[in-house]
Amino acid sequence: MQSATSRTIGLNMGPSGRAIAQPMDVDLLEALYQHTSLERVSSAQYLAMSLWFLERELRGFSAFFKKESLSEQEHGFNFAKYIIARGQSVFLDEVTKPIQEWSNVEELITLSFQMEADVTSSVQQLYSMAERLNDTRTTVFLDPVIDEQIKAEDEMAYLLGKIKFANNDPSALLIIDNELNI
Ligand SMILES: [Fe+2]
Repeated sequence: MQSATSRTIGLNMGPSGRAIAQPMDVDLLEALYQHTSLERVSSAQYLAMSLWFLERELRGFSAFFKKESLSEQEHGFNFAKYIIARGQSVFLDEVTKPIQEWSNVEELITLSFQMEADVTSSVQQLYSMAERLNDTRTTVFLDPVIDEQIKAEDEMAYLLGKIKFANNDPSALLIIDNELNI
């Protein structure tokens, strides 16, 4: 509810009644919702990957993907938190069913790398949209997100490189699994 005081000093209010310093463009807000969904879908996908490895006694890989799943969940939360900080309400979408079948480890890791690259593209699109709209608050919010995405891509590319090198050899995969089990 808008109070008498806020009316007199002309404060902008969001749907939740929070004061808004800078109104948010509707398309940018929609893009932020979509990105929040993408993070939540990635979290579910990584969870499915973690379980796939757990079923195959590869606990190192499983722990690695569980960590990834939790970190994507945290990213989704951070985007939602940012939307709220901008005085907007958060509307959560349905999380699509994750893929749960792969014919080998390389196929799974390839998908992980692709997912990270897709998340980065989505952040880049948000960034250029925010720049076009002179929404500096959003570009500042996105700066560390892009930094983290570059690191995530690097980590996934490194893992994919090792898996390709292992060429589905069980003993090589066990060595990588051990390395990831920390
Ligand atoms: Fe993420």
